[in-house]
Amino acid sequence: MALDLFSPLQLGAINLKNRIVMAPLTRNRAGEGGVPQAMNVTYYEQRTSAGLIITEATPISPMAHGYPALPGIYTPEQVAGWKKITDAVHAKGGRIVIQLWHVGRISHPSLIGGQTPVAPSAIKPAEQAFTYSGLQDYVTPRALDKSELPGIVNDYVHAAQCAMAAGFDGVEVHSANGYLLDQFLRDGTNQRTDEYGGSFENRARLLMQVVGAVVDTIGADRTGVRLSPVNPFNDMRDSQPQALFEYVADALNRFGLAYLHAVEGGIHGGGEAVPFDFAAFRKHFKGAYMANLSYDKARGNAAITNGHADCIAYGVPYIANPDLVERFKLDAPLNAADESTFYGGTEKGYIDYPFLGK
Ligand code: PHB
Repeated sequence: MALDLFSPLQLGAINLKNRIVMAPLTRNRAGEGGVPQAMNVTYYEQRTSAGLIITEATPISPMAHGYPALPGIYTPEQVAGWKKITDAVHAKGGRIVIQLWHVGRISHPSLIGGQTPVAPSAIKPAEQAFTYSGLQDYVTPRALDKSELPGIVNDYVHAAQCAMAAGFDGVEVHSANGYLLDQFLRDGTNQRTDEYGGSFENRARLLMQVVGAVVDTIGADRTGVRLSPVNPFNDMRDSQPQALFEYVADALNRFGLAYLHAVEGGIHGGGEAVPFDFAAFRKHFKGAYMANLSYDKARGNAAITNGHADCIAYGVPYIANPDLVERFKLDAPLNAADESTFYGGTEKGYIDYPFLGK
């Protein structure tokens, strides 16, 4: 029988009951101190029929924050909060990995204790930061000194250790969407002249050091990586995306990762994504490939059947359909997502989307 969205899948050490993945989704509803709270447990528990849940992007350190009310994965209280979530998901036979995040320049001093956000180079993003007091202009970030980079690698390692203590099945290293590791990869944000800038090898150096250190800590079979080769969101660009990201996919092969996750376009309606051949890119990666962005059931099944992808991550559909797997199975209509409740707020638009027949 041909493979489809409902076929089981082994991603490294993680066994999935189907190939429908809940994509990482920022929802800005963590409690004090970045500690997951009761409604966060309910939200993830409701979505356990997914083959795999990837948590919302989760800061690895105080400096890694860039939006209000994010959960963290670096304090004992945060670990205890996440443990309730992983326990709830596992009790229902689900699998869950946590997305490890450093936002780099996409932050604001008011979110990071008055400090200046850090980045590969001192280039201010266009547009504005979401803060506790509304939208505010981004500031020019401070270029990281080379001597600070081992500390950032250590923050990823510490967060990966916290993730294991919290009972996660693995981690996803967030190297997409214009945040710190992506800022190093793409030359629109990286104008460094040391060994972390210039060539593809240099721009990918921090990502490779982070992934290598996380793999050494928790195992390659529990580590995935997310890339977004053409996403212009967060004022991102690169002069040669096809060649750069094929280089990155090739370079990641050395680790034997659980999976590579690709955002195959621009998010947030983010302008015209530049032309990019995702089929050619995918062939460079020798392991499991997770595809994301505006797939529906038919396109997801087609991508699996034709060998482009091993599994499909669904974002917006998972906001509004906790039982997306059952709805796909029955070809049932999907709930529409209410954009006004995507970011922040209460249980409304978070844990009150109806299940089929309810
Ligand atoms: C967002 O808050 O819109 C957001 C966060 C993390 C991402 C992408 C978008 O990777």
